[in-house]
Amino acid sequence: MTTESTLPSSAAEIENLMAEERKFPPSPGFVAQANAKASLYEEAERDFEAFWAKLARERVAWYRPFDTTLEWDLPFAKWFTGGTLNVAYNCIDRHVERGLGSKVAYHWIGEPGDTRTITYADLQREVSKAANALLELGVRTGDRVAIYMPMIPELPIAMLACARIGAPHTVVFGGFSAEALAGRIQDSQAKMVITADGGWRRGKAAMLKGAVDEALDTAPTIEKVLVVRRIGEHDIPVHMEPGRDFWWHDIVERQSDQHTPVPVDSEHMLYLLYTSGTTAKPKGILHTSAGYLVGTSFTHEMIFDLKPDDVYWCAADIGWVTGHSYIVYGPLANAATGIMYEGTPDTPAWDRWWQIIEDYKVSILYCAPTAIRAFMKQGEQWPRQHDLSSLRLLGSVGEPINPEAWLWYHEHIGGGNAPIVDTWWQTETGMILITPLPGVTTTKPGSATFAFPGISVDVVDGNGQSVPLGGGGYLVLKRPWPAMLRGIYGDPERYKQTYWSRFPGMYFAGDGAKRDTEGYLWLLGRVDDVMNVSGHRISTIEVESALVDDKRVAEAAVVGKNDPITGQAIFAFVILKSGIEADDDLANALRDHVAKVISPIAKPKFLMFTPDLPKTRSGKIMRRLLRDIAEGRKLGDTTTLADSNVVTTIRERSGVAEEV
Ligand code: WT7
Repeated sequence: MTTESTLPSSAAEIENLMAEERKFPPSPGFVAQANAKASLYEEAERDFEAFWAKLARERVAWYRPFDTTLEWDLPFAKWFTGGTLNVAYNCIDRHVERGLGSKVAYHWIGEPGDTRTITYADLQREVSKAANALLELGVRTGDRVAIYMPMIPELPIAMLACARIGAPHTVVFGGFSAEALAGRIQDSQAKMVITADGGWRRGKAAMLKGAVDEALDTAPTIEKVLVVRRIGEHDIPVHMEPGRDFWWHDIVERQSDQHTPVPVDSEHMLYLLYTSGTTAKPKGILHTSAGYLVGTSFTHEMIFDLKPDDVYWCAADIGWVTGHSYIVYGPLANAATGIMYEGTPDTPAWDRWWQIIEDYKVSILYCAPTAIRAFMKQGEQWPRQHDLSSLRLLGSVGEPINPEAWLWYHEHIGGGNAPIVDTWWQTETGMILITPLPGVTTTKPGSATFAFPGISVDVVDGNGQSVPLGGGGYLVLKRPWPAMLRGIYGDPERYKQTYWSRFPGMYFAGDGAKRDTEGYLWLLGRVDDVMNVSGHRISTIEVESALVDDKRVAEAAVVGKNDPITGQAIFAFVILKSGIEADDDLANALRDHVAKVISPIAKPKFLMFTPDLPKTRSGKIMRRLLRDIAEGRKLGDTTTLADSNVVTTIRERSGVAEEV
């Protein structure tokens, strides 16, 4: 089921926005103290390999220095080959060794209000104990470990323990279902799961261990399960399988807090992170060690203008790449002090974040536009009750930020003077690639501005030809970068096919983009069958296959509908088998099934029963028309449609689409 690629109709909206004349030059005060200098662009352009090589020498503590900066066998990259290092050592021990042991690595805040302060010395001890526990439980260098946890300190500790012994982790977002977890364990052939009994969300215990038990019915590679007690006494009992399941406090606590990090090759797999693509099967995006460390730490220092005294808060969940690169590896490599918050922004009230910023004097905040829009909806009285004057820089990630949200963020959170960095990147890119440099770049609300130094971005037409300034097309990357994905786990063909075949020699990101006459980049959203719901990537086909799982469903087609809060909302068109009655109960059962198979975030907000779907004469579903129907727009060209009555029928019914 493939469909034609079209730029979303929001292109027209962007056209309007580009007429937007508001510009925000950096303030002289900020420029004077900024980490980033305009000269970085020229330096990187002169010789991008030399640029990254110098950074790799300066920023990484190597056991053995690398011989070669880049081996580029398009599309397979190897960076800093011949070198050996340990990522956890670079994120922890070397800071302790240079006297930063008492510096706070994380201020952790539990949703119920409990807190923990973890210094770099604490982290060194805790990670060492966890690494020793993994060894005792039979994990060896190279074995994959699945991590399925809430936002508690044991999550980064578990990741770093894996890195310390060279066991790649695959973190599965705690909101994913047992089936989604099982699929990721099967694909990665993980040997162990690290989890918790549950975590606190919106005042309730969200249980996790039960989902692990269910997943393990179909995930036979798992030998051991390590379980953190976060919830404790609770109505829902936690089953512990003797010989398989172990409590963290029984096993980890009694370990020695001394552990020598294992040197690994620069290209040793650091982690896999599964992400949705244009098929039903999520892809295991493969990241390795040295290049990833260089790319995430350097971008973090430059883009967030990190200084030793900053209190930095990336409010993402570590289950997504944002958390991997900008809560764990980048910030720790830079010896940053970070905030980690377990719960939701509305618990106990909509000022939870602003309270945290006031209490901890947070100076840098990095979050998603969907969160900003949700705060806007609640009203500025919530942030106004708090002293947010410690904030000196704001970041945005995950989806295009609309100028209205940008301006609200600027005024009501940033006090009208904190620069905003709108950062474009992907699970695959590992590090931020398109962003302003604070103190250098004049920003325009809604534009992610320019490629980071050393990164080569272009906007091309359908034939791969660069589009002149002022035009729109497909976003591509034209040279390798250190934190880039090294492949899709176990499927090099799919890697080539997905990213490198649409435009030969170029990485195709799957996003549409425009460049205005001054060269500013404006991201237009996905041009493939991928939706972006609250900054989460969900494949239309994944949701469709969950829907057709139900015996009563004959066919389903899913599209993203613009949504004022979540960016896009999922709109499902469902054809039932003959004789099946369409009613609300069935609609709800189908929605719940999607939540169970994928995650509650993938639950269709709108579900419409329809007798047929618009298809081309060759049988492809015309998702473009479905998007028009979902938006209630005037229909585009229907000349290739097999039966144009179909659209009219669906159109008539769309008035009755159900919203949850
Ligand atoms: C997709 C990648 C990168 C971490 C979070 C998402 C969209 C991301 C922006 C931005 C416009 C953005 C793109 C991209 N996206 N950041 N600043 N402006 N769009 O990671 O789940 O891999 O999703 O998110 O469509 O392709 P991801």
